[in-house]
Amino acid sequence: MTKKESFQQEFEQHVKIGLSKFPKFLSSKYIYDDRGDKLFQQIMDLPEYYLTTAEFNIIEQNKSDLRMLFEQDKGFDLIELGAGDGKKTKVLLEELDRHDSNFTYIPIDISQHAIDELTVSIKKVWPEMEVQGAQGTYFKILKNLVNYNQRPKVILVLGSNIGNLSHVEAIGFLKNIQEIMASEDTLLMGFDQKKDPLTIQTAYADSSGVTQEFNRNLLHRINREMDADFKVNNFEHWEAYDPETGTAKSYLIATEKCEVHIKKLHLRICFNKWETIHTEISQKYDDLIVEWLAKEAGLEIYQVFEDEKKLFKDYLFKKKK
Ligand code: AVJ
Repeated sequence: MTKKESFQQEFEQHVKIGLSKFPKFLSSKYIYDDRGDKLFQQIMDLPEYYLTTAEFNIIEQNKSDLRMLFEQDKGFDLIELGAGDGKKTKVLLEELDRHDSNFTYIPIDISQHAIDELTVSIKKVWPEMEVQGAQGTYFKILKNLVNYNQRPKVILVLGSNIGNLSHVEAIGFLKNIQEIMASEDTLLMGFDQKKDPLTIQTAYADSSGVTQEFNRNLLHRINREMDADFKVNNFEHWEAYDPETGTAKSYLIATEKCEVHIKKLHLRICFNKWETIHTEISQKYDDLIVEWLAKEAGLEIYQVFEDEKKLFKDYLFKKKK
């Protein structure tokens, strides 16, 4: 079975389970096809979606410190999980290139399309740069990363991508990274911070409706890839940020009672009026939670970087001795 076929099978299995359960759920990781990638890029340009600008600011302000923390005599592998369009990373790449750093950039993303576009756009600006993109899900790719042990590694997970995981899953993810790290390796990870709840709520419920389209892309994708007949406009995006737990939860809510036929899965799904599909969590953090996650995963916080508006933090971790 090709990688694509096994991903498709996984997606179908997930849809079957998620839509048969009560309450219904689907995972946000399936939003990212070509259209989903484009919609996420539009989200990053929204005035409400402060995360990208904030982390861009962190990297811009600290690029020279970061470069000096990353550089090693033997050179290094810069491995980015969930690279996307590389908007923030390119600031770092520019800095590294300007100082003739010896490194290979290894962007990894769930979307092959994103990897291809990113590689082409890097080659355009820096034709000499060593780039080895790879498509895959985090967990599968991490297993292969054990083979990257010839040179020190710098692992990047930017954008608060970890926020899509529950704390239990996040610890598992961090542990997986920790296990493939050597003592000289570093991990730089972005964690969106707890803040005024309205700022968070608004970032995921933008006035132009881009986030709604992004969320609905799950249904478009099921329609297209599993021959289903979701009336997508009958599902409304809803965002609920809980300041107690720091969890922003996204839903699609059926505004009409309806039945959906997913032909490829031989499945009929009924929705009551106002029935929900939970699609995404975007977890928000503070230092205490990040310290706890790190400790549970056998990592140590080495340095913390914050943007000027104090919305977002990037933490530099090392393996605990
Ligand atoms: C890519 C997971 C960081 O949760 O903030 C943006 C995805 N969802 N708007 C996030 C997303 C709705 C984003 N991450």
